[in-house]
Amino acid sequence: MLILGIESSCDETGVALLEIKGDKFRVLANLVSSQVNIFKKYGGVVPEIAARKHLDNLLPLLEKAMVKAKVSPKDIEAIGVVYGPGLITSLIVGIETAKTLSLVWQKPLIPVDHMKAHILANLVEGESGSLVKIKYPAMCLVVSGGHTMLVSMKDENNFKTVGQTRDDAVGEAFDKVAKILGLGYPGGPIISEKAENADKEFYKLPRPMINSGDFDFSFSGLKTAVKNEWEWEQFKDKENVRKMCASFQQACVDVLVKKTIEAAKKYGVKSILLGGGVAANKELRKQLAEKIDLELKGVKFFQPELNMTTDNALMVAISAYFEYKDKPKNFYEAWKTIKVEPNLEL
Ligand code: KG4
Ligand code: ZN
Repeated sequence: MLILGIESSCDETGVALLEIKGDKFRVLANLVSSQVNIFKKYGGVVPEIAARKHLDNLLPLLEKAMVKAKVSPKDIEAIGVVYGPGLITSLIVGIETAKTLSLVWQKPLIPVDHMKAHILANLVEGESGSLVKIKYPAMCLVVSGGHTMLVSMKDENNFKTVGQTRDDAVGEAFDKVAKILGLGYPGGPIISEKAENADKEFYKLPRPMINSGDFDFSFSGLKTAVKNEWEWEQFKDKENVRKMCASFQQACVDVLVKKTIEAAKKYGVKSILLGGGVAANKELRKQLAEKIDLELKGVKFFQPELNMTTDNALMVAISAYFEYKDKPKNFYEAWKTIKVEPNLEL
């Protein structure tokens, strides 16, 4: 079976071709065209521009992927496309393209939830793309520019949100703090680089909701605390920027790690999964791994490979496969009904 995946929910256009034989996966193509350099000068994504870039990029990327994989339309069995959550103008480009292909090529069309796709990015290993076997139930920490969630998972099609942010997402907080400190966009990679080997206890920052007893998060107050501290700081030199990056990052990591461990204990899980753009954060990966090792004996920790943390279409193709494999008939006429859902909830 060969699945075509399409991603266009924010500022990355992605096309992937995934071959599945039994329980063997093979990645034939996984191409991403990122707009991140365009949005550096704006300090964030401009939805109208993002949509126009998706229009420019999607079909050429599809052609390139098919040439690379040496496949023609007749080889493709089904098409998976992200229908939400995300920016409506961006999502529409992927959806309308996928609907057109589905009608013209007469292929089933599978709508994919972008957040589920971030979780299922854990299921593919390396460029070989072999399938990773996960023991369920699992607890997933999903951290991106738009979301911060703890999701309990019974299998590849069974997800339940057990907690989420009440205001800013953690990636959004990284981006806003970078702006406050006069660093570029996106903030996550820059902050984590500056934080390396810097004193993470120098600035005393709050750990919002760390003892709230539930699995919700809040990052807006932490961002404001950084802003206030920085306004008071007389010496806004390079060293202090690094110390602030480290102090802020550690505050985020403390809350994320503690709540993930608590949720894993409460739900008695066998595995913990990490997903979303912030899953690229080295300290989060390291400290979560250490804590799981220490406190949750026998629980296995999965984290996606670095190129699978940010938005890509391979994670979309994987999700589409799991939706499609047991009920292929459901998707033949789907192009008639699928609509974008910018605020889609798991
Ligand atoms: O999942 P993603 O690519 O797009 C959304 O679906 O939102 O996530 C993007 C977010 C941005 O906020 C970015 O600053 C953050 O992921 N990010 C990081 C790192 N790399 C990307 N945050 C912290 N540390 C990183 N190394
Ligand atoms: Zn994403």
